[in-house]
Amino acid sequence: MANDMDVEDITRVAVLGAGNMGHGIAEVAALAGYDVTLRDIEEDIVREGYEDIEWSVHKLDDKDRLEEDPETVLKRIMPLVDMETAVEDADVVIEAVPEVMDIKTEVYEALEAHAPDGAIFATNTSALSITDLSEVTERPTQFCGMHFFNPPVRMQLVEVISGAHTGEETIETIEALAESFEKTPVRVRKDSPGFVVNRVLTPLLNEACWAVHEGDADIATVDSTSKYGVGLPMGTFELADRVGNDVAYHVLEYLHAELGEAYEPCPLLSQKVEAEQFGEKTGEGWYDHDESVEIPTE
Ligand code: 3HC
Repeated sequence: MANDMDVEDITRVAVLGAGNMGHGIAEVAALAGYDVTLRDIEEDIVREGYEDIEWSVHKLDDKDRLEEDPETVLKRIMPLVDMETAVEDADVVIEAVPEVMDIKTEVYEALEAHAPDGAIFATNTSALSITDLSEVTERPTQFCGMHFFNPPVRMQLVEVISGAHTGEETIETIEALAESFEKTPVRVRKDSPGFVVNRVLTPLLNEACWAVHEGDADIATVDSTSKYGVGLPMGTFELADRVGNDVAYHVLEYLHAELGEAYEPCPLLSQKVEAEQFGEKTGEGWYDHDESVEIPTE
């Protein structure tokens, strides 16, 4: 099936998954003027995602970063649970559900049954193979990776990734869509584990854990050196809490299986995940997020 959709033809974007990334992507699309459906499996999850968007849009408004009234942006977003209603009129579906192949497969099967034939499917996967995911669908040529960074509303980059079957027209349309979101797309031609950003970033997070695990440094020291020595905008552990320790762990497990020993997740990270201390989203991670994070300046 060939994709003949131009970015000008896109009016409705469906986002599947209302977690950290999904609700952020829905917000970005609404800010760009698209009608958006935001879908998750439970009312509570969708409501929480929508409330996070409300907070963010008002915050942007408070900081004079919004070009229109917050309510106008919010009215473009329809939060819901029903898959058929979410995708039946979608031109593009962006999937941002958990990084578990079985969950993604189930979602694509339900999605395929209701999405229009011409709709493009884009996955926000952090590391999984775009080719493998595309083969779960009946439209592998109309399928690609569209990888945003947390928080999507503030981060400029979008990785656009071709799978083995992705059509050139699909890639061009998704790059143009990213530009219409006022983002900067970078094209990743090789569908390799972790693409570019996570192949570089997750070993950094992992190495920080190893340094603490082996007693070389404490968390505050790693974070102050990351900020004031390396010049990162956040400490490495602060960033892990922002990204989600569960997300970092799943990416590393995948890189470990695909690329070898160098990517073995540090036991300290595994323990955080087992304890469900995922970071900001659970209120506890390397830091307690019920209190403000204080990082030493020297
Ligand atoms: N919406 C609106 N406002 C937000 C927000 C959001 N989603 N998130 C944070 N803010 C607000 C804060 O509440 C704060 O408000 P305050 O000043 O009233 O307290 C304000 O933004 C901070 O903004 P500033 O511009 O003053 O702060 P910074 O210059 O520090 O920028 C940042 C914030 C852009 C988040 C910056 O710290 C940063 O770039 N951090 C690194 C993030 C990063 O690397 N993300 C990528 C992770 S990798 C990934 O996601 C991939 C995945 O696959 C693993």
